[in-house]
Amino acid sequence: MANGINWNPAFEALPFSPIRKMFNTAATMEDVLHLSIGQPDFPTPPHIIEAHIEALRDGKTRYEMDAGLPELRQALASFYSGRYGIGLEPENVLVTTGCCEGMFIALTGAVRPGAEIILAEPYFVLAHVAEMAGATLRCIPTTAANGYQLDPQEVIDAINERTTAILLNSPGNPTGTVYPRETVTTICEAAAERGIAVISDEVYDRLVLDDVNYASALTCAPSLDNMIMSSSVSKTYSMAGMRIGWVISSPENIETMQRPHMFISTTENTASQWAAVAALNGDQGCVGEMVAAYRERRDRVVELVAAAPHLTAYSPGGAFFITPSLPAGTDGFDVAMRMLTEARVCTVPGGAFGQSCGNALRISFATSMEIIENAFARIIPWLGKQSF
Ligand SMILES: Cc1ncc(COP(=O)(O)O)c(C=O)c1O
Repeated sequence: MANGINWNPAFEALPFSPIRKMFNTAATMEDVLHLSIGQPDFPTPPHIIEAHIEALRDGKTRYEMDAGLPELRQALASFYSGRYGIGLEPENVLVTTGCCEGMFIALTGAVRPGAEIILAEPYFVLAHVAEMAGATLRCIPTTAANGYQLDPQEVIDAINERTTAILLNSPGNPTGTVYPRETVTTICEAAAERGIAVISDEVYDRLVLDDVNYASALTCAPSLDNMIMSSSVSKTYSMAGMRIGWVISSPENIETMQRPHMFISTTENTASQWAAVAALNGDQGCVGEMVAAYRERRDRVVELVAAAPHLTAYSPGGAFFITPSLPAGTDGFDVAMRMLTEARVCTVPGGAFGQSCGNALRISFATSMEIIENAFARIIPWLGKQSF
């Protein structure tokens, strides 16, 4: 008798995160300070919660249009058109289950077996979805010493006849790095000339902590024909559990992506979509307040990392992460696990984000200043006792 399900081996391309071991260990311990968190620690602004509850009370619990609630597609088209001075229509928007689903569709659809997708390393784990679709990740290592900036010429040099897509993520997870306009424009133009897709994960597009003119691929690509941008309300409005995201591209690309979307989620949670409309159309002061808090924490974390022995610091321009590196060759998993069990601070080892960054540690500042101060009060003396 056959034994169990003969699973598609493609599933094996999706790794179980090795950091589960750390979280499992942390869960058995007391008095652990977490610098490992990947979502905002702020409450969702009250007017958004009210809109969500009101939608439920109004009976907005039925299936909606599969491409998204028309009011939300319109709100997104208007929001980005206003923000970037471009002309988007609702047909440029597909509403998805968070940025995750948008990236899933883009990363499986814009590659094929044998294809290559170029991306900077460290990279966010979602990239493995392209491997599930049979593609190879062509990683370009970047370093803490260089603020994890990506040299666009290295991207261009990595393009070959198998390249079908380039993945961008600015501000990035785990680095917090924000690419300057020149980098994004050069890459988008090179991709457009060669008929290669640019998939831009902009889930942190509103959490830009420095006073820079943020370079969205929406404003850098010569056209939307080969550009897919995905973002969500998860980080911007602290609504990660409401699972509302979107993809923006040409109407033709949106129609193509609507096909798999129909079979993945069909349509998003209707009440959550109304909450997202309230978030986008409402007062944006709540975003400014959260960004100001992240900026203050970022500035302090950069000081603390710089004061910590063995760590190479830089200043992340966005998101709520910094990924300082330890001396080359150091096993980040071993360090993170010992730091957890001996100093009771939980971080995420860089190896979770690619091979070349195995000597790094991701530190999240999506937590209170008090926890940050207390955690570094443990980390700094602990690191001082280590020799690498
Ligand atoms: C870079 C990046 N992309 C996508 C996501 C998924 O976001 P969402 O909650 O919108 O699905 C995350 C979440 O941590 C992320 O860090």
